[in-house]
Amino acid sequence: MKVQIINGPNLNLLGKREPDVYGATSFDTFFQELMKKFPGLTLTYMQSNIEGELVNQLQQSGFESNGIILNAGAYTHTSIALHDAIAAVPAPVIEVHISNVYAREEFRHKSLITSKCVGLITGFGLLGYELAIQYLLSKQKV
Ligand code: DQA
Repeated sequence: MKVQIINGPNLNLLGKREPDVYGATSFDTFFQELMKKFPGLTLTYMQSNIEGELVNQLQQSGFESNGIILNAGAYTHTSIALHDAIAAVPAPVIEVHISNVYAREEFRHKSLITSKCVGLITGFGLLGYELAIQYLLSKQKV
């Protein structure tokens, strides 16, 4: 099973950025551990601060992967282009946020992408990515 993780703006700074909100672990460190936990999966990861690059990755992985885990960062709350890209591809997309966006500023309470995702995981820290993989595995046909 092929799973693509896509992280949006500022998530390259995980571990350094507001550690009280996002934790002290870099995504690279976490990703190495994640790959060890799921050795049978083809897990790939990309991060970009640029909205169009996230759209390009969704278009590409959306026809090649069995699932996409998307943390669109702040574009979650603003991007019709990401909404449309998720709608355009057959792969199921799971929306993940490290923090609980509903316990934060009101502008984070609105997501333009949730309606096109299979589901939303928010507030469980980096564990949210693992929970998303567990969901995709549970849907795999044996
Ligand atoms: C985030 C939440 C967003 O509101 C914020 O803009 C981010 C990170 C999260 O993972 O909690 O950059 O997506």
